[in-house]
Amino acid sequence: MYSRIAGCGSYLPEKILTNHDLEAMVDTSDEWIFKRTGIRQRHIAAENENASELAFQASKKAMHAAHVAPSDIDLIIVATSTPDMIFPSTACILQAKLGIKNCPAFDMQAVCSGFVYALATADLFVRSGKSRCALVVGTEVYSRILDWTDRGTCVLFGDGAGAVIVKTSKTQGIISTHLHADGSYHKDLAVPGSISGGKVTGNPHVVMEGNTVFKFAVKVMSEMVDEALTANNLKKSDVSWLIPHQANIRIIQAAAKKLGLGMDRVVVTVDRHANTSAASIPLALDDAVQDGRIKKGELILMEAVGGGFTWGSVLLRW
Ligand code: UT7
Repeated sequence: MYSRIAGCGSYLPEKILTNHDLEAMVDTSDEWIFKRTGIRQRHIAAENENASELAFQASKKAMHAAHVAPSDIDLIIVATSTPDMIFPSTACILQAKLGIKNCPAFDMQAVCSGFVYALATADLFVRSGKSRCALVVGTEVYSRILDWTDRGTCVLFGDGAGAVIVKTSKTQGIISTHLHADGSYHKDLAVPGSISGGKVTGNPHVVMEGNTVFKFAVKVMSEMVDEALTANNLKKSDVSWLIPHQANIRIIQAAAKKLGLGMDRVVVTVDRHANTSAASIPLALDDAVQDGRIKKGELILMEAVGGGFTWGSVLLRW
């Protein structure tokens, strides 16, 4: 038995914050941000929008695209580092919003690799027969955990959500998944704060050693290309589309170069969405599916790297 993505959907909050808007907030420039990252703008959630709300909007679209009803869904996995609350999980809140009764629902915390981790987990549930129709979501409201006075981080992230439906299939969809983590880097990209004794202790904002993350990301994004292709006895030229995590255009270009793939075969949204962490890959997937770029039968390599450090890839046939 195989698992296959049967449909996808996404949601971006209405408000757009441009680099020029940021020039009025911190000592930065559109030129610096665009040259170093490829970002021009990002979406920012409204006050009444949280991770479950963004997930709800994206999930409804994915369910519509896959022609599934709430009653068909038997597993919900939500990848997020910006949950609505400490508990219950955002997946349980999403389950209630969708009116789904009695299926397992849980969050997956692997920061920017969260969607890849969640999709790999859903693949295992579906292929083992434990699930027939899973909802997998990446949803983030990073605007809530940024220090808006720190130009080194606040210009990099945005809000949004993307969702997919993963179903059992007689034909091959998800071909392979590879997940990794190295916790020795846990301090290099973190929100180190926590809640204790009714107070926030430590820094509740994103902190990042940008250069360390950058170098590590370029290295593992290249390694994951070899890992996925070797495991499946495939050539670089077999890959139709690269859907990388959208953190920095320079990291994306390095991964494309490793694959020998022209940038016209790489889905890029970082210019419009910035880094939406666990939401970035499903948002990019939906972008390219909606405009007709991705066609049935094409081979897609998704790969992500993020806090932990965590990293991973999913190779699939659309
Ligand atoms: O999702 C996974 C997690 N995130 C990533 O993958 C991000 C990985 N890292 C990066 O993308 C890059 O390291 C950054 C975009 C964050 C930074 O680019 P960089 O080329 O590594 O720049 P830098 O940190 O070395 O900073 C260069 C200069 C510094 O000034 P000095 O010390 O050379 O005078 C910074 O203070 O740029 C300065 N700078 C800024 N200037 C204007 C840092 N942020 C800004 C800013 N606007 N927003």
